Amino acid sequence: MGIDLLDFDSTLERKNKAIPDRQSFIDVLKKATAREDVNAIKQDIRNILDALKQESKSAGASNDNLQLGQGFEFLIESLEQALDAYSLERCKYYLGRLVRSLTTEKIGKINDLNMNRWKEYKDIITDSLWIVQKRDRTGAHNAGYWGNFIPQIPQQLLKRYTKNKDWVLDTFLGSGTTLIECQRLGRNAIGIDLSVEALKEAKANLDGEKNASDSKVELVNADSTEISYKELLEKYNISSVQLVIMHPPYWDIIKFSENSKDLSNAPTMESFLSGIRKIADGVYQVLDKGRYLAIVIGDKYSKGEWIPLGFYAMSEAMKAGFKLKSTIVKNFDNTKGKQSQQDLWRYRALLGGFYVFKHEYIFLFER
Ligand SMILES: C[S@@+](CC[C@H](N)C(=O)[O-])C[C@H]1O[C@@H](n2cnc3c(N)ncnc32)[C@H](O)[C@@H]1O
Repeated sequence: MGIDLLDFDSTLERKNKAIPDRQSFIDVLKKATAREDVNAIKQDIRNILDALKQESKSAGASNDNLQLGQGFEFLIESLEQALDAYSLERCKYYLGRLVRSLTTEKIGKINDLNMNRWKEYKDIITDSLWIVQKRDRTGAHNAGYWGNFIPQIPQQLLKRYTKNKDWVLDTFLGSGTTLIECQRLGRNAIGIDLSVEALKEAKANLDGEKNASDSKVELVNADSTEISYKELLEKYNISSVQLVIMHPPYWDIIKFSENSKDLSNAPTMESFLSGIRKIADGVYQVLDKGRYLAIVIGDKYSKGEWIPLGFYAMSEAMKAGFKLKSTIVKNFDNTKGKQSQQDLWRYRALLGGFYVFKHEYIFLFER
């Protein structure tokens, strides 16, 4: 009834280890999967589980030792699922899936996620409501640039919608949050901003961040509504990009500069939206088919009226030909300045029958 795991103790390389190496582990799993008796297969699973638990407790044990590529927690979880299965067929199915996850890859078309190990990607959000408690302040990331987004936004987008060495275009670079993430994750990127000050800040941030994968990050001083995207890409010897991120000013909520071309100085909402439309039209020409555009934007109040700026901007991208894939609602925290005014806003909200803004949107579109 027992399995070869008992023999593991006798191996020379890893004496006293419950599991000697990756291949033995896979072989034992395969052997169990081949059983035709439910009691026998479950006894095998129990033995494997005991060995795994023992291994995970032993000093210095890590999945790297075993090169299993997966945490013990996940392996134990998967085996327990197989153990709880009612039928032999189901039990074999779960074990087979575990073996596949350790031996084969199923890589996505537009990312590097291995779908045979999808359960491992616990950090990747798939719900449309994002509650992010804390801004990532690691490395070069900082909240110094007023109006920058939290790094988790580009990080999530890059992981799901790009592959290693893909090109990312950020049409509103700001302090370079997207490009810092690209540098971390091994993506190439072009960031455009109208403001020379913003570019300086982005450059300083990028210089302060490691570039282990030799990502190319290009900073461009231009008006995103007017630039020829095709000509821009030619400069870097590429004809298309694989992800576009747009984080425009939320019209006039924060004034970024005195420049009249700055969208935060757009005299009317129509002119602001026409700028968004021009960019959407422009990037449509250079984004690969099947790839994604993300627009990060919030709404605003004007004279006691809620202006659904986000949805208007979303509509402009759709008019440009993009297919809407998701509307994500993300929380945002009070900035320090607002904190002191919290009571005042609450009072005004109660009095005026409105709500205090606590969210913004990430609209996702497929080209
Ligand atoms: C909301 S911020 C982007 C922040 C950025 N995501 C970050 O994390 O730092 C918007 C940026 O758009 C820039 N901007 C405004 N109008 C522009 C235009 N017409 N072309 C290019 N950049 C523009 C502003 O200078 C500002 O840096």
